Amino acid sequence: MTAEPMSATAASETGGQVTIMFENDQVSVPRRPGETLLESARRAGMTPPFSCEAGNCGTCMAKLLEGTATMRVNDALDDDEVADGYVLTCQAIPDCDLVTVSYDED
Ligand code: FES
Repeated sequence: MTAEPMSATAASETGGQVTIMFENDQVSVPRRPGETLLESARRAGMTPPFSCEAGNCGTCMAKLLEGTATMRVNDALDDDEVADGYVLTCQAIPDCDLVTVSYDED
């Protein structure tokens, strides 16, 4: 018997899930590589607030309840807000397979 490389099966598992909570509603969509949380929310049929879509205004801000995401640009949130889990959803791309973000946290 020969051993199979571990990576052979792991590569096919590109799944993951993004869950968005907005106005007391909750929808999950399959994670897509490189998609921002705002784009995922729209794909889920939600209409969360946004304005500049450039990381400048903070209108699209939401709070991560599960998982982590990296913002391409952040010219709106201060360090304390980031430390509390807030992200600019127009700029935030999930770093892990399971992410939950809520627009209802204020
Ligand atoms: S829409 Fe302006 S920072 Fe995201």
